[in-house]
This record gives sequence, C-alpha cells and structure tokens, in this order.
Amino acid sequence: MQHFAIQTINRLFLEVFITTLRKYQYTHKDFLQRGINSFAYDQYDLPIFAYRYPASTAFGILFHLFFLGRKLKLKLLKQIFSDDYIQELFRINILEKTDSVSVRSTIFLIPFKTYYFACDFILQLIDRSNNRKRSKYESVYPIGLDSITLSEVSIKKQFNSVLDLGCGSGILSIIASGHSRYVTGIDLNPRAINFSQFNALLNNVDNCHFICGDLYIPIKNEKYDFILSNPPYEISIHKSNLFQDGGKYGYKILQKIIEGVSAHLKKGGFCQIITKIPEFTDKTKAQLFKEWVHNDNLHVFYLELYRRSIYQLAYEICSDSFFGTTKKKSCRNYSHRVNKLLHFLDKINLKSMSSGLITITHDSCFKYVEHIFDGKNIQTNELTSKLQEVVYKHFIYFLGFYGLIYLFRSSLINIIKGVFPFSYNFLKKF
Ligand SMILES: C[S@@+](CC[C@H](N)C(=O)[O-])C[C@H]1O[C@@H](n2cnc3c(N)ncnc32)[C@H](O)[C@@H]1O
Repeated sequence: MQHFAIQTINRLFLEVFITTLRKYQYTHKDFLQRGINSFAYDQYDLPIFAYRYPASTAFGILFHLFFLGRKLKLKLLKQIFSDDYIQELFRINILEKTDSVSVRSTIFLIPFKTYYFACDFILQLIDRSNNRKRSKYESVYPIGLDSITLSEVSIKKQFNSVLDLGCGSGILSIIASGHSRYVTGIDLNPRAINFSQFNALLNNVDNCHFICGDLYIPIKNEKYDFILSNPPYEISIHKSNLFQDGGKYGYKILQKIIEGVSAHLKKGGFCQIITKIPEFTDKTKAQLFKEWVHNDNLHVFYLELYRRSIYQLAYEICSDSFFGTTKKKSCRNYSHRVNKLLHFLDKINLKSMSSGLITITHDSCFKYVEHIFDGKNIQTNELTSKLQEVVYKHFIYFLGFYGLIYLFRSSLINIIKGVFPFSYNFLKKF
C-alpha cells in the first residue's frame, strides 16, 4: 500500500507547507541554534528536547508533531494551519487522527540545509505498537550520519547520469540532482520509492526518477557517470529491517554493488559507497575487493573513518534501538544477545569492523589503496570537507581540471584562515 497518492498532491500546497515550516523556524539552522542535530541525535535526548521545547509555541507544536512524533490536540494545530489546510494534510496522509480531539504526524520530517526529508518514525513505531510486533511494512530509513556524510563528501562534479542504489528516502538522489542532469534512484522497498517521490516533490526537484527493484536488475545494461550508495551493512544473524540487513557477514548487498560497478559505470565515472566492511583473521579487505571485482580493471580507494573491535561491535549492534523492534528490551535479553553475537563473530573469524568511504573508478588494472583518516584534531564542521579533500587528492588525475580547482579553492581558504582568521569568520557569514 502506498503512503502518499503522489499524483493527487499539489506542488503549490507543498510550497505553502515549506513556507510555514520556515516561518516557524522548523529549519536545520534553527535546530542547530537550539542544540538539536536533526540527523545525529541520541534517542535518549528526545524527552529532553520535548521538555526544553514544549508545544506551547509555534516551533514547539511543529517540533512535537513532525520530529518527536507526539500526538497533539487538533486545536493547537489550528494556531498554525487553516481548517482547509489541515483537511488537506489529512487527505494526503501526512496527519492522522488518534481520537476525536487529537492528531499525529505519519511522517518524520528532517530538515537538512535547505531541504526537508520525510521518512518513517523508527523509534516512535516501536512505542506506537503496544504489542511490539514488527510493523507490517518495511520502514523507510530515517536519515543518519552515514547518509549525510556521503551526501556531503561525494564528488560534486557536474554529472550527466547518476544512479543511487538503495535510495531510501531519496536523500542522496535529491542532493545529487543539484549537480546532475538526471538521477535514477532504486530501492527494493516500495514504500521507500513512494517516500522518495514525495521528497522530490517536497523539495521541488524534477530530474529524479525512482524505481522499485533489486539493485541493478531494473536498469539492465544502462551505464552511469556516477554511482552512489549507502547500502545496508549490519551483520544480521536474524532477519532484521531491510535497510540494515547486510546478511551474515554484513556485506551481502555491498558485494553485489561492487560486482556490478564495472558493467554499469561509464569510462571516467566514479562510484562512491559509504559502508562498514569486515576484516577477518584469514582474509583482508584487499582480498575481499579483489574477489568481488573479478578481473575487472577497477581502482578502489578505501578511506577508513573508524574501526571497531568485535566487542565494541557487539555492544553497538545489541544496544541499537532499531534491533529492539521485535523483543522487549531488558538487561537479561541484552546480555543473551551479546553472548550469542560474540560466539557467532568468533566463529566467522571476524577480527574487526571498519566504517568508511569507498571510491571506485576504471583504471588500467585492478588497484586497491587504503587510507586511514586521522580526524583527531578536526572540528566536526570541517570533517566532511577534509574527507572530500583526501578523496580529491587521491583521484586528482581522474578528476582533472575539476579536482585542481577544488584543491586550489580549499588551499586558498586554508591560507586565508591562517593569515586572517577574523576576516575569514566574518566573510563566512555572507
Ligand atoms: C541504509 S539505507 C540507505 C537509504 C538512503 N540511501 C540513505 O542514505 O539514507 C539502505 C537502503 O537500501 C535498500 N535496499 C536493501 N536491499 C536492497 C536491494 N537488494 N536492492 C535495492 N535496495 C535495497 C533498503 O530498502 C534501504 O532503503
């Protein structure tokens, strides 16, 4: 079942929606000023945000509705939207009634830069279903730090055709559409396709096309200038959400994506993937990549962002709120899960799991280069440009003139920052 009847949604209606959100400071910039990071927050912060920003102001009402997923009295909403407008929000399935006087949002609305992305309320879905059964549909991935990092770090060259594999809410496609002629997003989850189409409409983007299907299957022999992906990458010993299920070793989808790069990437094009990759005691990452690309002449550059031991990984996976959708969480349950997972990780000879950015392009023979990113002294707001710089420096030969311009620009900024720190901060405001 589709969540949005896309054809019946009026673009002008959505424009008014966005204008209203901006008017009442439901924007990325205002979130940051209030100390709320819209895509990298801790679930335990949510009740604190709710307390700090009560639904007694226009911002508070929108925040409780679209970010916290709380139910609100309909009369509060009437302070912001007209009666007719509220009726339309019900009709297009953004709002639903919980009883005769209260409403709630069916979408989690994330502001990022000047964009808005609708996806599912994962945490709230857990709270909403009293019987804690798995929801009957696959949820749409709520934008995470991985989605944002890839969208920020990815090559910003002008591309003709872009392919986004596992598009989810459509974030990577929609952001890439700004520097591309045409973008194709593919996802196995029909609900994700419906949300991507809605988000393209919401952000007034009309050069994206979304298809429901399994990775490269729907596009057969098509080739692209740029392939982007943030695939599911968690080790899953049980069936889990489609958006995180990387199979027994975590690379079930990654392997298929890399195996298809050679056939679907145009000469001179790039493929960028943000993911987790396992390192085994009996197999290195380089060996894994070599197996996946067969004899194809691909140049693989892996920029490692961080690495986890199997113990840190077991903690991360077992304390992850997404995994809590099937069973009631308790300390006993948690220890049981950690124990089982550690036994499994030992059995498959997992040494560590790293997280990073893969960049691939065609070359004269297979090459694998690994670089560990040292981000210790880097401010969070500089992180993505530093990462981008490393990738651009590595691929300067392939990026050509465009890469040189980028590096020239970033070195110039560094010089200005070093020599005139005050004027740089002043200039940044404009
Ligand atoms: C981690 S989410 C990323 C979503 C989005 N690209 C982002 O960065 O926020 C992974 C996505 O891959 C999709 N997916 C999983 N298996 C797939 C497959 N075999 N073919 C296409 N998409 C798949 C999931 O439905 C999910 O939307």
